Amino acid sequence: MAEVVIVETADAAGEIVADEIQRLLEAKPDAVLGLATGSTPLTTWKALARRALDLSAVRGFALDEYVGLEPGHPESYRSVITREVVVPLGLNPDLVRVPADRGPVETAGEDYERAILEAGGVDLQILGIGSTGHIGFNEPGSSLASLTRVKTLTERTRLDNARYFSSPEEVPMHCVTQGLGTILRAGHLVLLAFGEGKAEAIAGAVEGPVTASLPGSAIQLHPRVTVVVDEAAASSLRFADYYRHAWNNRLRVSGGQA
Ligand code: F6R
Repeated sequence: MAEVVIVETADAAGEIVADEIQRLLEAKPDAVLGLATGSTPLTTWKALARRALDLSAVRGFALDEYVGLEPGHPESYRSVITREVVVPLGLNPDLVRVPADRGPVETAGEDYERAILEAGGVDLQILGIGSTGHIGFNEPGSSLASLTRVKTLTERTRLDNARYFSSPEEVPMHCVTQGLGTILRAGHLVLLAFGEGKAEAIAGAVEGPVTASLPGSAIQLHPRVTVVVDEAAASSLRFADYYRHAWNNRLRVSGGQA
């Protein structure tokens, strides 16, 4: 079972996750962070930026990237990571990779997997979850063992992400995403979600059967997972009272309480 933390606000979640990242970086200043884009991790990046830590040795791997946007497009995940993470946190841009950033899409999966392995693996992976239950852009049906590869986005995800583009048609149809198997190799998974629109996906990910039909449920296969959600995103969790009880009476033991 994941450690589930139910908080009042997205800002409170950001502070909790920033604490977790700060603890990791105190022990390992050149730790490898798995970086999610989208709206969910923004309070985490803001909380970390306020701490003004020296993060110049941190290495980063983005979860995913759109295919087909022109280089430098403001909504490419390279641009988003630069704007939301690299600049405000003072990361070294040379140490931050995004899928397909150094070659053609055809070989991007293999190349990215090799780069992650060469970096020694991701220490802490930040995750959001889509309304389809995707983590990364692993849409329903994704193999639980999948590695970085090209995927076709669901129409639902394209509509969800249309808010960042001038029209829904502009949202790319394809992406390169770390696979579920890639994500499961990280040392620690931290999944965040806010708002009622995520409640079903969170309940499925944390408590539902492990199934490719709800890719977020793959987190149940990982021994060290922290899920940080607000009350609305927690509203369909069957064991919410127990999660609150466990968090309020937590014992800090290394490795967490999967
Ligand atoms: C982003 C990613 C996606 C998002 C998910 C939620 O890199 O991999 O899984 O985390 O689509 O997006 P937001 O946070 O915008 O609701």
